[in-house]
Amino acid sequence: MLAGKNILLIISGGIAAFKSLDLIRRMRERGASVTPVMTQAASEFVTPLSVSALAGVQVYQDLFDLTAESDMGHIQLSRSADLIVVAPASADLLAKMANGLANDLASTLLLATDTPVLIAPAMNVRMWDHPATQRNLAQLVADRVHIVGPNPGDMACGEYGLGRMSEPLEIIDAIAAHFAPRPLDGHKVLVTSGPTHEPIDPVRYIANRSSGAQGTAIAAALQDLGADVRFVTGPADVPPPNGVHVIQVESAQDMFDAVKANLDVSCAIFAAAVADWRVENASGSKIKKQNGALPELSLTENPDILAHVAQLGTDARPPLVIGFAAETDDVIENATAKRARKGCDWIVANDVSPETGIMGGSENQAILVTEQGADQWPRLSKGDVAAKLAERIADQILGTS
Ligand code: CTP
Repeated sequence: MLAGKNILLIISGGIAAFKSLDLIRRMRERGASVTPVMTQAASEFVTPLSVSALAGVQVYQDLFDLTAESDMGHIQLSRSADLIVVAPASADLLAKMANGLANDLASTLLLATDTPVLIAPAMNVRMWDHPATQRNLAQLVADRVHIVGPNPGDMACGEYGLGRMSEPLEIIDAIAAHFAPRPLDGHKVLVTSGPTHEPIDPVRYIANRSSGAQGTAIAAALQDLGADVRFVTGPADVPPPNGVHVIQVESAQDMFDAVKANLDVSCAIFAAAVADWRVENASGSKIKKQNGALPELSLTENPDILAHVAQLGTDARPPLVIGFAAETDDVIENATAKRARKGCDWIVANDVSPETGIMGGSENQAILVTEQGADQWPRLSKGDVAAKLAERIADQILGTS
């Protein structure tokens, strides 16, 4: 699984750095080549000589040496890797990563790359439990950094708790899992997400309360299964997942154009809360108050993107087209009728009555409406709804359902 892989190993300061020597040996035994980078603190725990002897190549330690060698040395170093492994990942390096600091070689490499990153945290249990570290970890999870460990156990400082770095073989398993084939490898999918903004004039617009959280979670879940994700998003509250191909749009018309240009996919999922209407006579300059006279805004209907795609001929229609139905009453009946009216394969329906807290919240209660009927899912986090939907999509695309 690791044969031929290029792994950039960043060793930060911590007593667990001694385990990184064994980790290097085990990665190389499995056919990976390892480029080691050490922070200054790491060299207080293991010597660059041992690291370089085990890796069979030089150790990189100094940002300025590297940039002196060639203008963009640090960028090349991180981009040529298939995976960056940070082991041990100290509380300090996690904080730098979460906040985008770049004041030494390790943190600069991590900021200058879009290569996937796996971290193996190691620190004292109080440092691990500290709200600042937990905040940083939550940020790193949101940034799609992969995490292995830490384990509970006795610590070098005499305390007991979570904070011991995973054992080298556990880290190897996490690396192998990263490179394992995934069900949607080689499949392109399209996801729309977020609200649309329909201009009234250059400073005002019509919008809706969609945060983009569910669409973003679906894009991330499909990417986790290996899909190449085209993510067409309106102005959402949550950032797009790292690593997806983002197409940022404002209005329904922009979204329609972006979707039409990205239909060579195995599946299209329309999670966006597209505005049904736009202002027909949007003004090119700011509308001023006029002594109590109200501006006359006339509305016109936006294109129904889902219905357009779902009703394309078989040569242009993605094989699996999925819509969403946000309903407040008779959810299953309305969603079933919407599935037929729009011509899509599946509808993910949810009850967005204000008392459910679903619109703009972190949870969702979905009902999957297909040709076979309605399948009611339990109330789950939006991430879990996304993972469940992504699994169903993979089964359908691969013909295993
Ligand atoms: N949708 C779309 N383009 C639009 C409107 C909606 O692609 N102009 C998609 C949404 O992304 C969603 C589905 O259609 O997947 C359902 O949207 P919804 O607003 O609930 O349906 P409407 O057709 O607007 O029906 P109604 O307002 O009667 O509920």
